[in-house]
Amino acid sequence: MKVVAAKPFFTEEDMENIARDIKKCLKDGTLTFGPKVREFEESFAKYIGVKHAIAVNSGTCSLEIPLKFFDVKDKEVIVPTNSFVASANTVIFAGGRPVIADIKRETLDIDPQDALKKITPKTKGIMVVHLAGLIPPEMDEIKKICKEKDLFLIEDAAQAQGATFNSHKAGSLGDAGSFSFFPTKVMTTGEGGMVTTNNDKLDEFARSMRHHGRVGALHSRLGYNWRMSDINAVIGIYQLKRLEEFVKERNRLAQRYSEGLKRIKGIRPISVPSNIRHCYYKYPVLLEGKMNARTLENILQEKYDISTATLYQTPIHLQPIYRDIFEYKEGDLPIAEEVLSKHELCLPMFVGLTDEQVDYVLEALEKEYQ
Ligand SMILES: Cc1ncc(COP(=O)(O)O)c(C=O)c1O
Repeated sequence: MKVVAAKPFFTEEDMENIARDIKKCLKDGTLTFGPKVREFEESFAKYIGVKHAIAVNSGTCSLEIPLKFFDVKDKEVIVPTNSFVASANTVIFAGGRPVIADIKRETLDIDPQDALKKITPKTKGIMVVHLAGLIPPEMDEIKKICKEKDLFLIEDAAQAQGATFNSHKAGSLGDAGSFSFFPTKVMTTGEGGMVTTNNDKLDEFARSMRHHGRVGALHSRLGYNWRMSDINAVIGIYQLKRLEEFVKERNRLAQRYSEGLKRIKGIRPISVPSNIRHCYYKYPVLLEGKMNARTLENILQEKYDISTATLYQTPIHLQPIYRDIFEYKEGDLPIAEEVLSKHELCLPMFVGLTDEQVDYVLEALEKEYQ
């Protein structure tokens, strides 16, 4: 049995509806700046529970926009090392310096105490990353730090569509939220991203920045082409309608994994406090036995045709470009380095994964893990 690590999900009905609506866009010539982008933005803002949602063409520019708005030029932004490299890159693109913080072993999310230690007079904000779809359980502590130190809080919610904290959705918890709709994500538009905020000025800024810095008829800012097309928005509209279903199904699959893992000594799921709804973009496990995660990953692939993933085997500060620019080195962020290189693995997780496939993965783990 082959099991892939992740893939997008569309029902037959949704595919037909998407094809029909895209055909209408093609007929009407409304390929960009049309009604579908607006419809997607409005329904996304409503779902997240924020005033504004601004659709863009990637989860990278949806981070860069608020960072530019909060003017991080020559300033510092604290970013956890356990993320996709874009989280930190965007601080550099916006003219600032990412200051990389360590993670908590239990959640793989940012360690607020390490973030606190790294605050300097140049710090302008903190970026939290809801890794794998888990909003950091210490969100209140992080918010308090931001309030006391007068820092902005950006949520990199690229992996957290539909996740909640005290019933509030990811993307509504800070000054700005950022989503990616890359095909492996909990919902997709093919490529795409979304900025979410309650700040009217950021809304205006984002709309201008995604459209070459246009304000009225003139170009008052140095902007980009960061627009989402109506074709992508159509896909997003139908995916968003299914998001609650997707999150429930991912939680059901996660529950099945967690139950099964009880019988396997040394493999532990990440525990989730009851005030948080995980959306399980990924299902990471922590390995406490003697076998290295990388060895297990190879066995699963070679012997069982099971593909896994990692979040993230090489943390940001040890990526070659970060070693080059900022001279980060081994030993700088010891928890992330130890846990991620040897003890963390993400089991296959996507809507469409069958119970038989989950059981097959569990059986393989039971046979092979020591
Ligand atoms: C945490 C995180 N931030 C940012 C991004 C960047 O999103 P995109 O690939 O849509 O530009 C991703 C996507 O992979 C991500 O996982």
